[in-house]
Amino acid sequence: MVDSVTITDNRNGQTIEIPIVEGGVSAEEWSKLLPGIWFYDPAFMATACAESSITFIDGDKGILEYRGYPIEQLTKQSTYLEVAYLLLYGELPTAEQLDGWVQEITFHTFIHENMRRRFLEGFHYDAHPMGMLVSAIAALSTYYPDAKNIFDPDVRHKQVIRLIAKMPTLAAAAHRYSVGMPFVYPDSSLDFASNFLSMVRKTTEPRFEANPILTRALNALFILHADHEQNCSTAALRVVGSSHVDVYSACAAACAALYGPLHGGANEAVIRMLTDVGSLENVPDFVRSVKEGHGRLQGFGHRVYKHYDPRAEIIRNIAYEVFEVTGQNPLLDIALGLEEVALADDYFISRKLYPNIDFYSGLIYQAMGFPLEMFPVLFAVPRVAGWLAHWVEMIEHNTKIARPRQLYVGYRRRDYVPMPDR
Ligand code: CMC
Repeated sequence: MVDSVTITDNRNGQTIEIPIVEGGVSAEEWSKLLPGIWFYDPAFMATACAESSITFIDGDKGILEYRGYPIEQLTKQSTYLEVAYLLLYGELPTAEQLDGWVQEITFHTFIHENMRRRFLEGFHYDAHPMGMLVSAIAALSTYYPDAKNIFDPDVRHKQVIRLIAKMPTLAAAAHRYSVGMPFVYPDSSLDFASNFLSMVRKTTEPRFEANPILTRALNALFILHADHEQNCSTAALRVVGSSHVDVYSACAAACAALYGPLHGGANEAVIRMLTDVGSLENVPDFVRSVKEGHGRLQGFGHRVYKHYDPRAEIIRNIAYEVFEVTGQNPLLDIALGLEEVALADDYFISRKLYPNIDFYSGLIYQAMGFPLEMFPVLFAVPRVAGWLAHWVEMIEHNTKIARPRQLYVGYRRRDYVPMPDR
């Protein structure tokens, strides 16, 4: 069997054979036969925007691997910082490499005092923490003008360290501000997840001792959220980064994309939906209204996963561990009821709609005491590792600027109409 496709231009009978390479066909080759004819694919439903060796997903089989390592093994055996290293450098670190990496990140967790006092504290008292985070990431570019030298590998490495290290500090600062609590400085003696919990929770105690079960759960959640190949926010990062802007500006764009309810904002939407449903007996009516087109079942469905989202299964197990410590989230029963009804319903079965990562993550965050507004922020903190891995890969491949074509459907040339004649 020949691994190629042949296309024929029926207007003139010309044909061209295009090889299928790594599951794709080159649009550049295609365009040789059809100059000026564009692929119409507004949501990238059938368009690959990059060659990448970071994350593998098989949506039909429910497989997710970072650099070839299954997500199930990483969440059980690894740490978020080790996974961040793996995503960025392609291999698991040796003990020495991991020590150096953790030390470098721990050393860079502090943010400039002005960033907190003048910038973050300048927000309106009820500012959404995700809005604050998006802006704060963009503002970092003004503190690190060296970041403009994106083709210098040492400069790139420095920004990678800074961003991974400062994300929890910025996220916790946004949270503390939004709940009217004083800022907590990073504690370099704590591991990554414990330090984050300390900056979020610490009150008067000299050293915050996080519950190890919650730290482990947060670590696993961070790993699960660290990357997801060409998702909406990573695609935003690639488009913006392809203009060769500094990585803070590109990550701010990615973070803004993550804010939306169809992407990282879905975990917040799930809790609002479960609260609206209110009780188990309302589940059938709610599912009926979704089927009639009144809203969506939040936390269900995925562009890529058409069997199940492997992250959802892991998260459901983490939820039970967390509830052992925090007490069960009262919304869990409604969530389980919704899942049961939806998974047995032909509407959801025929459309291959299954629970995704956001269906259960919000229940955990809520049980851990995070306000709803913090949910997308909790998604963004670890996703920065994925954004950075894709950014480095893109810059190393020296990708061209992203510049899609359009199918123009508006008016052609017409003469300006003076105001009295309109
Ligand atoms: N509830 C009810 N119906 C749905 C849902 C849902 N959650 N998701 C999709 N559908 C229906 C949709 O109405 C359409 O039906 P029809 O063919 O009759 O018009 C069909 O399923 C296909 O949907 P689509 O919108 O074309 O699918 P998509 O691939 O463009 O959208 C999605 C994927 C995740 C945006 C969508 O499933 C959705 O809106 N889900 C709810 C929001 C959500 O949970 N988002 C988090 C995604 S996972 C975290 C992340 O990685 O970002």
